Amino acid sequence: MIVAIDGPAGAGKSTVARTVARRLGVAYLDTGAMYRAITWLARERAVAPSDAAALAALARDFPIEIEPTDDGDRVRVDGRDVTREIRMPEVAADVSEVSAHPGVRDEVVAAQRALLAEGSWVSDGRDVGSVVCPHADVKVFLTATLEERARRRRADLARRGVEVDEATILEDVRRRDHLDSTRATSPLRVAEGAIVIDSSDLEADDVADLVVQLVRDLGDGSV
Ligand code: DC
Repeated sequence: MIVAIDGPAGAGKSTVARTVARRLGVAYLDTGAMYRAITWLARERAVAPSDAAALAALARDFPIEIEPTDDGDRVRVDGRDVTREIRMPEVAADVSEVSAHPGVRDEVVAAQRALLAEGSWVSDGRDVGSVVCPHADVKVFLTATLEERARRRRADLARRGVEVDEATILEDVRRRDHLDSTRATSPLRVAEGAIVIDSSDLEADDVADLVVQLVRDLGDGSV
């Protein structure tokens, strides 16, 4: 059983996906973490975010290890635990450009499909329901207004001790929206059969309730 939750940055996907996975007792795969890990590795090795061939080679030669834990996914690449590092603003600044290269996506999508082929999962990202797993049992497109997503992102960074002004965050979220939805390969879009949920006025728990209900409504006893 696969639940795919896609949507733009800051819509609350990871909080909702993690909650749904916990309630259903299944694993959670954060697909964005894999693109972030490649981006982190590229920075370490001084590979430019525009260097498509070198980035695809990194994605091919350094498999990303994902270990689902109660605390979220642990991410390892090149023998290093980069779970924290991949959340840093420097990685966030480059990840949209890195993840737009078709050669990078081919490698990462293949790895994601291999993981999702076994067992039951909740997975979130931009293209889980449209490209990685078009046969997912439940597909959700989770969105919220630009202002609300920027507000959440700022609060999230503040919790981690990173203060960024409102205008900078708004611009960053707007820029990532644009890059993610206009790229040629697997742009962010509502997958066929996806249910659109606007979380602007909803708490993450309420959204999780809605998604869990969609799974229960399948009624096939798969969870
Ligand atoms: O969800 P996130 O912010 O951690 O994602 C980081 C970047 O990775 C995001 O800018 C777009 C990209 N991404 C993607 O292209 N496809 C996915 N399935 C998940 C993320």
